[in-house]
Formats: sequence, structure tokens, C-alpha cells
Amino acid sequence: MRLIQHKKEAWWFYRFLSVFYDKYVNPLFWTDFMRDRSLQLAHLNVPNISVVDVGSGTGFTTEGIVQQVPAEHVYCIDQSPHQMAKARGKASLQNCNFQLGDAENLPFENDRFDRYVSAGSIEYWPNPEQGIREAYRVIKPGGIALMIGPLEPQNKVARFIADTWMLFPSDQEYRDWFRSAGFTDIRVEYIRPQWYRKKAEYGIAIAGVKQQPGVSTAPLSAPLLPEPEKMTFGRGLQIFWRVLVGSLAGFLFIPAALFGYVRRMFSPKGNLPPQYREGLNGYQIGALVLIVLAVVLLIRFVF
Ligand SMILES: C[S@@+](CC[C@H](N)C(=O)[O-])C[C@H]1O[C@@H](n2cnc3c(N)ncnc32)[C@H](O)[C@@H]1O
Repeated sequence: MRLIQHKKEAWWFYRFLSVFYDKYVNPLFWTDFMRDRSLQLAHLNVPNISVVDVGSGTGFTTEGIVQQVPAEHVYCIDQSPHQMAKARGKASLQNCNFQLGDAENLPFENDRFDRYVSAGSIEYWPNPEQGIREAYRVIKPGGIALMIGPLEPQNKVARFIADTWMLFPSDQEYRDWFRSAGFTDIRVEYIRPQWYRKKAEYGIAIAGVKQQPGVSTAPLSAPLLPEPEKMTFGRGLQIFWRVLVGSLAGFLFIPAALFGYVRRMFSPKGNLPPQYREGLNGYQIGALVLIVLAVVLLIRFVF
């Protein structure tokens, strides 16, 4: 179903989610450790490079990029003005260049950037293959594109909920899309937050190098899905129910992560440096208490 894998639906999803994204949601699923490990694949530590961060959202990944690249050389693209407003408010991102735009049709000429980074955005693109072609198009020959995204869950129930929410590609799909876009020297890292204990991989960071100037020449494996442009009453209703049901499916992953971190409090931490030790912040502990209270009240009310 992938109810939020559409541009308008994703726009509305982030209209509301942007309010509590940084405090409650993002730190559960996309952590400093995952980000820093993924960004290593982009080789950002090179003087005078320019970077485009696509689906930059509230700027969490951008904050990792500007630790290595001067903010003036970093271009943030997102289709959500609400997410972008949060990023613009962050002190370390003040000098970044912000522009609203679509990942599948980037507002830049060919061969413009040294690096392309996109984290946690591909799952909302109706045409992910086209988005990866755009990554290829806008970087220079010798440039690197890095895409970070979720992997399809192996557990059947989790997969059903994930598929109701948005796109969770397979490992093979990411690799095929990168290869068919024309990238070479493809490298992959698997990433996961520390609450996630399953054997199956959780997320992927995949990077490739562009060799030739210009656009990808191989045809897309599937025709582009057009987004319905005309806003009718029926389309409005469709957006409403898709955003509502898709968001509910997505929110089901929040208690799983919250309880995962509670369990982790009682298990060995390993020898990670302190800045990478993950846990719950005060907002999330508050949310957890509310969830437990709601469940207790529900049980008392029903039985
Ligand atoms: C999970 S957030 C990731 C934000 C950020 N990269 C980070 O690291 O926190 C996904 C972002 O992708 C953006 N997005 C979704 N579809 C998009 C599209 N077609 N073009 C540009 N941005 C898009 C959303 O608005 C949202 O801000």
C-alpha cells in the first residue's frame, strides 16, 4: 500500500511530524553513531568540496556534514517548508544554502556538486530509481553519491506495517538502482540503532562514484508514476485517509523503539565512546510514561 510514498502525502505527513520530529521521533531511528558511520562512505574530509543534502529535513544529517564541510558549501533541498524551517533555525546550519525542491527533479544543472547525500528520504519518493538518477546527474565525474535508507523488515507483521506506511526497499533493490544509474565502486555499510537487536539488517548506507559527465543513459526499469496534480474533493479525501492510516502504521514503530531502549538500560553497553551511547531523552521518557498509562487505562476500561 505504501500510503505515504507520494509527494503530497509526504508533505502533509511532515506538516505535522515536523513539530515533534527532532525531540521524539528522529533520535529513536537515526542516531549520531549511524549518521557518522554512514557519512564516512561519502569521504567528506576533502578541501573545497560542495555537497547537496537531499531530503535534508530538520538538518540532522546536515549537522554531521558541516562538521567536515564549511556550511557555505552545503546545499539543503527538501519539499517540506516546515521541516526546512526547523533546519534554518539551527546555529550550525546558519550559513547553509536552503532551497525547497523535489528529489526526483533537482533544481540544479548537471555535474554541479562533489558529493550528494540523502538520508531517510528515499522511502517517500514515488520513483526512487528516478531520485537516484538525479543523484547521478547532479554530481561531477569522480563525485560520490551516498544514499541512506531503511531495509525491508524480515518479520511478516513488521513488514506488513512497514509496507502500509512507506517504501522499505530490499538490499538488492538499492544495489540494482545504484548500478543501473551508472555508479561504480559501490560500497555499503549496514546501520542500526542500539535498541534494535534482530539478526536481519535494519538500514543501509550505499555509496557510488560517478565516472562520466552528464546524465544516466540506461533506461529506467519501470515507467515513472505521475503524481496526481489536480486537487479535487476526492483527492483531498484520499490524502486525508492515506496520511491518517499511514501515520498510524508509522507510529506503531515508536513504542517498539521506546521499549527497546528500556530493555537496553539493563544490558551491557559495550565499549562505545560516551557520545555514541544511545538512550532515551526526557521527552521520550515522558512519551513512554503516557503510553504505559494509556495502556493501563485501556485495560481497566475494557476488562
Ligand atoms: C526522515 S526525514 C529525513 C531528514 C534528514 N535527512 C535527517 O537526516 O534527519 C525525510 C525528509 O525527506 C523529505 N522528502 C520526502 N519526499 C521528498 C521529495 N520528493 N523531495 C524532497 N524531499 C522529500 C521530507 O520532507 C523529510 O523532511
